[in-house]
Amino acid sequence: MEYKFPSGFLWGAATSAHQVEGWNFNDWTEWEKTNANRLAKETRMEFQEWQQEKFPEMFEPKNYISDHACGHYKRFEQDFDIVKELGQNAHRFSIEWSRIEPEEGKFDEREIEHYQLVIKALKERGLEPFVTLWHWTLPIWLAKKGGVRNADFPKYFEKYVKKMVEVLGRDVKYWLTINEPEIYSLNSYYRGRWTPQKKGILNFYFSMRSLMKAHKRAYRAIKKITPLSMVGGVCNLSDFKSSEGVVNAILKILFERFWNHRYLRRVHHQLDFIGLNFYFHNRIDYGINKNKKEVVSDVGWDTHPEGIENVLANLKRYDKPVYITESGMADKEDKYRRWFIEETLKAVSRALERGVNIQGYFHWSLLDNFEWDKGFWPRFGLVEVNYKTMERRIRPSALEYAKICKNNSINL
Ligand code: BGC
Repeated sequence: MEYKFPSGFLWGAATSAHQVEGWNFNDWTEWEKTNANRLAKETRMEFQEWQQEKFPEMFEPKNYISDHACGHYKRFEQDFDIVKELGQNAHRFSIEWSRIEPEEGKFDEREIEHYQLVIKALKERGLEPFVTLWHWTLPIWLAKKGGVRNADFPKYFEKYVKKMVEVLGRDVKYWLTINEPEIYSLNSYYRGRWTPQKKGILNFYFSMRSLMKAHKRAYRAIKKITPLSMVGGVCNLSDFKSSEGVVNAILKILFERFWNHRYLRRVHHQLDFIGLNFYFHNRIDYGINKNKKEVVSDVGWDTHPEGIENVLANLKRYDKPVYITESGMADKEDKYRRWFIEETLKAVSRALERGVNIQGYFHWSLLDNFEWDKGFWPRFGLVEVNYKTMERRIRPSALEYAKICKNNSINL
């Protein structure tokens, strides 16, 4: 049986500036230089034997330096040709704040022009731009001032956002303010894994608070300049399932409230749509992450694509359109990606049948790219990147996804 997606459904893939562009200069590039050796050493503790054997590059410090990444900054046109060839009609990417405002209050006109060209290239190919304004990297001057924990962070963000909307707003309908505030706050301000490596619940709380304020300011600023634009936030939500027993049922409610709904409850009046990033399924059995792990990705994450149905159904309460702004898995051999995409989209079709207003799907990612503190070894791309030659090779799963995009339907 064939399931037809609603007409006008957007099909695409996502990237973020720091992960694909190359030649950046921001708080991450500086952190990479001082942490590459440590990260290369720590992999022995963190990853299992099969992963260490499959990806020996994880032991090389240069794996952790983003450097020229995928060279997408220069090759965006060729990359968008691939996107078009794959039958997609939309594309999600992010703007690198450190390029736009390398010094406080000084905007770089050449870099602004670069993103104008990026958007023009998308439009020429019939691709609807979904523009993320902040995907985790900061200009150095702002990082030095304490980054998101600076009390004025929301104001700095608003100023940069205003500038972007003034110069790009004519050609952009969909804006995404902040990518996954909860994942950023968790890793940078609670677990101390990412720059600036702060720890503790208070740091997490204040980081989240600052990002919420920043989102609200950005929302108002964008709507003031371009009232017809659609402004969303991006959240990384989990599918929580509880094992038997009252304690587990209560834990599930608490985790869901805290992780999936805390941010949304606070910002939903300043959202035209919800951007959902879905990767994680969490079985609760007197603790979280007690998963069965039937199919794990190369980075060791449990994959449970059908879980997205539940998460989507739980978003109905906000009565907003939903775009799936990320979903994907690290799979170098492309063994499971087709299955993963198809199972995800079947679950999405079930959620649509249940009345959730889903309007688009963006696979993570278009290209293999720089996976933050893991560097280059995890391969999330529909398109494989040879980091030596920069050659692109379309993976078989991408061709299967292309059929779905072109037909706007899936065989159930
Ligand atoms: C992030 C991406 C990241 C992906 C895979 C998402 O949480 O937005 O930047 O590469 O997960 O880890």
